[in-house]
Amino acid sequence: MSETELFPPPKAFSKRAHIKSRKEYEAIYRQSVKNPSKFWAEKAKQLHWFKKWKRVFRYTKKPFVKWFEGGKINVSYNCLDRHLSTARKNKAALIWEGEPGDSKTYTYQELHLEVCRFANVLKKHRIKKGDRVCIYLPMIPQLAIAMLACTRIGAIHSVVFGGFSANSLRNRIQDSRAKMLITSDGSFRKGKIIPLKKMADEALAECPSVKTVIVCRRTGQKIPMKRKRDRWWDEEIKAEDISDVCKPAEMDAEDPLFILYTSGTTGKPKGILHTTGGYLVYVYQTFKWIFDIQEEDTHWCTADIGWVTGHSYIVYGPLANGATSLMFEGVPNYPKPDRFWEIVEKYKVTLFYTAPTAIRSIKQEGNQWPKRHDLSSLRLLGSVGEPINPEAWLWYHKMIGNRKCPIVDTWWQTETGGVLITPLPGAIPTKPGSATLPFPGIVPDVLDEKGRRAKINEGGYLVIKKPWPAMARTVWGNPKRFKEIYFGKFPGVYLTGDNAKIDKDGYFWVTGRTDDVIKISGHRFGTAEVESALTAHPAVAEAAAVPIPHPIKGQGLYVFVTLDKGIKQTPHLKKALFRQVAKEIWGIPPPWRILRWLHYCSSRGSFKIAVSVDIKDSGENLKIEPLPA
Ligand code: WTA
Repeated sequence: MSETELFPPPKAFSKRAHIKSRKEYEAIYRQSVKNPSKFWAEKAKQLHWFKKWKRVFRYTKKPFVKWFEGGKINVSYNCLDRHLSTARKNKAALIWEGEPGDSKTYTYQELHLEVCRFANVLKKHRIKKGDRVCIYLPMIPQLAIAMLACTRIGAIHSVVFGGFSANSLRNRIQDSRAKMLITSDGSFRKGKIIPLKKMADEALAECPSVKTVIVCRRTGQKIPMKRKRDRWWDEEIKAEDISDVCKPAEMDAEDPLFILYTSGTTGKPKGILHTTGGYLVYVYQTFKWIFDIQEEDTHWCTADIGWVTGHSYIVYGPLANGATSLMFEGVPNYPKPDRFWEIVEKYKVTLFYTAPTAIRSIKQEGNQWPKRHDLSSLRLLGSVGEPINPEAWLWYHKMIGNRKCPIVDTWWQTETGGVLITPLPGAIPTKPGSATLPFPGIVPDVLDEKGRRAKINEGGYLVIKKPWPAMARTVWGNPKRFKEIYFGKFPGVYLTGDNAKIDKDGYFWVTGRTDDVIKISGHRFGTAEVESALTAHPAVAEAAAVPIPHPIKGQGLYVFVTLDKGIKQTPHLKKALFRQVAKEIWGIPPPWRILRWLHYCSSRGSFKIAVSVDIKDSGENLKIEPLPA
């Protein structure tokens, strides 16, 4: 793809967009970096504050920034109550589509009621401001309700992706010392049942901090409930002593809002902490401008809420804007490869936000699938999670967007809270594969090893030079690590861990990571996690995992394992190693399927084994070199 090939925003789109031209964007951008306090104060004013802030931001104790200090605000109030006195009160807030095809819609009023009642359930179980509540649920409405209920009373939620294993869940609960766990009897995955509660029980055997478990009914199978500890969601929320009214807690802008664990270069995943005021202002504003939200839009972000994309652009960003947000429990290719398009047609989705891996996997099934459906409601498409290759971009543009929808390729991270680099759809001409330009208020750059600005088109470290409202505040319980990881290389400058280049038009091209983080199907892993899962097996002496390019999943994994002296490689051991990784990281079959044994050779008395991701859809393209002796 030539870097000069530009796709200008469709005229009809620009005409009614929030930001209508590159010129307008540039004027806003200039002002936002010249006077960030003024810029962000104007944005923050659009939300409801119980008490106004004293100072927009303070960055004296670098890298620990404070935004909207002195301000008092409540997230659930802004996402729900604020809309009830407007025409939005009976508008759909959440449209939910279940994997088996069941569905449910909540208006703002209905969602408000559910959230208030559940917040009272939390209180009844002695959850207080600052307590951690772990949420381990499939993509069902209770997940969003539980998050909002936590924010209502000032509890800190920690959502753990429902695909993670009991061990991953245990590590996260132990690290945050959560007092409560919210889970479900089971979850659906491609028509099968995953025993979520069973995995939760396994994790909880080593989590003394958890006093109460709230269990949602989803799959309906019989599960053991532990006396005193375990309660059914539906019984709790219906109880007579649970009121419909719950006054929102007046939170300090810098009070913690949530912890979300994410993979890094070394060790176990770390708990990224986001706080209340800055995060909300930022996701509110980015959602508004990047998705160009209009009152009648139906927004569908296909991510799982277990990842940051779902937090910011299924729950908080859309609801803070009074938008209709669609939440889907299933996967793109079940029961058929047109599941996404069936849903777009059913709900007349207008804004559609997904990951390149999903686009590639649907594309390979053939054009007949999208062609079966009326996709004419779509007016904007988005991409997130990994670099999008120009071929997938063009297919998305032509087949799904019918050449009339702008594509926003949004670059961001768990740590950034919201999107930092992206086209504004009515203003910025796009180039397939480039996330284009910074969002107003964001100052990114590309530096070389010595911290000098890289030349045009020269790859280097992507950094952010100025603080922004939704910047992570710390690593839960480990501020030292936060400082070292993100501000250690170039002092005072946020290191993203990504590699990027800037072209002659000032467009950013993010090419991948500079560290040991990998993106498989857009899901973030550390190679170190896979390595330590393998070395936890008694037969394994050493393990090394390296990423390999994968045509659909973006990246795959290639793992080298050295067995302990005298241990023989057997099919049984191979299975045990696959199970080991599944047990430590993924409870459900991971998106990269099962690790596959490729070959092994001996090295000084021990065995070396190479295993790799199941590459069934790309077997021919992948060349595995013989291992070095
Ligand atoms: C990658 C997901 C290229 C990047 C929101 C980043 C991207 C990591 C893009 C964060 C994009 C995300 N183009 N790469 N548009 N978006 N990435 O924390 O490597 O799960 O550092 O947050 O995903 O992954 P995370």
